[in-house]
Amino acid sequence: MNIFREETEQGNIDVTDSTILVVDDEPEILNIVVNGFSRFGFKMVTALNGEDALEIVAKDKIDLILLDIMMPGINGFDVLKKIRDNKQTWHIPVIMVTALNAPNDRIRGIEAGCHDFISKPFILEELLAKTRFLLKIKFLYEQLERSYEKLKSLEIMKDNLTHMVIHDLKNPLNTILLGLEFLQKRFQSKLAPEEKISLAVALRACYELKAIMDDLLDINKMEAGKIKLRLEKFDLAVLITEVIEQMKVIIVDSSKVLSSQIDKKMPEICADRKIIKRVIANIVNNAVKFTPSNGTILIKASFDKASNNFCVQIKDSGEGIPEEYLETIFDKFVQLNNNKFNVGHGLGLNFCKLMVEAHGGNIRVESKPGKGSNFIFTLPA
Ligand SMILES: Nc1ncnc2c1ncn2[C@@H]1O[C@H](COP(=O)(O)OP(=O)(O)OP(=O)(O)O)[C@@H](O)[C@H]1O
Ligand SMILES: [Mg+2]
Repeated sequence: MNIFREETEQGNIDVTDSTILVVDDEPEILNIVVNGFSRFGFKMVTALNGEDALEIVAKDKIDLILLDIMMPGINGFDVLKKIRDNKQTWHIPVIMVTALNAPNDRIRGIEAGCHDFISKPFILEELLAKTRFLLKIKFLYEQLERSYEKLKSLEIMKDNLTHMVIHDLKNPLNTILLGLEFLQKRFQSKLAPEEKISLAVALRACYELKAIMDDLLDINKMEAGKIKLRLEKFDLAVLITEVIEQMKVIIVDSSKVLSSQIDKKMPEICADRKIIKRVIANIVNNAVKFTPSNGTILIKASFDKASNNFCVQIKDSGEGIPEEYLETIFDKFVQLNNNKFNVGHGLGLNFCKLMVEAHGGNIRVESKPGKGSNFIFTLPA
């Protein structure tokens, strides 16, 4: 669907259906303008002073205002200011029709938010031309606004649909996962090596699928400002051991060595345990994916008293990341050419960044092509 197609081409915009408010304390001027403009089909409304003008603008749909400056009561500058200060009327184009010609008055008018000036006595055709021009701009602005609103609602529809699909997929996936985990626990010792590998590959695929779904749901929630962290105290060392155990079960290539170096004197951390576990699992999962056979992956964790920060590092001996990607790699959907098998969707690191930052921490990567990568994130105590 082309949401921009419905509207007229710019050159053919017909603005004669517009309603124009003329404000002037001289009835003769009102007559000249109303007669001149009505001939072309414009709907004309008039006011003899600023107070009436503001009342009309508040209740009727006005497309453009021709505004006198010197009037008894509220003058044109103040009327304009009130129109600009009001959320309902700030966008209405205003042409000031004035006997004042000094540059200072024009500057004052522009500062108050008028779009154009015309001096009295004016040539009607010139006023008509200026009016048509501003009405066309207003029409295009409104068209842009409508397109933007449509885009926003399409975006919301798309997000809702994504949510629904993911929710519907999660239940059957969990059932498959439970079945595979059961088979692995029950029969692992009896399986032939190639059967063990098949099971590990199937389990890994399920975990990856589940992680992608969870990441996508959480990123959406975080972007909509709807995610709430469930903070609790826990031992980071235990959590890292759990991630390693979980990964070991699904690492198919046993030549990759996954180890940890954890500071023994770390205090308990207060964070969302499930989320931090998924942050670490995401980075370790990448390290495993992008490290060739015989590579090493080391998880380090420490606590720095001076800064009161926990620091977790996941260092791999993989192919590394080019300098130009070191920051953008944390953006949604960014993937490098090293992703030979086109695995995943470039969501994992975006999830990690959003979640670490939601905890008040930060995340970065140090890497050089051919020299491995070191993902480092900190979390406040
Ligand atoms: N340790 C690493 N070594 C080399 N490249 C990496 C490493 N970690 C991430 N990358 C690169 O960064 C990209 C983005 O990683 P990210 O985790 O966001 O997405 P993904 O792993 O491709 O997919 P997803 O996490 O959604 O399953 C990866 O596709 C890969 O190109
Ligand atoms: Mg990933």
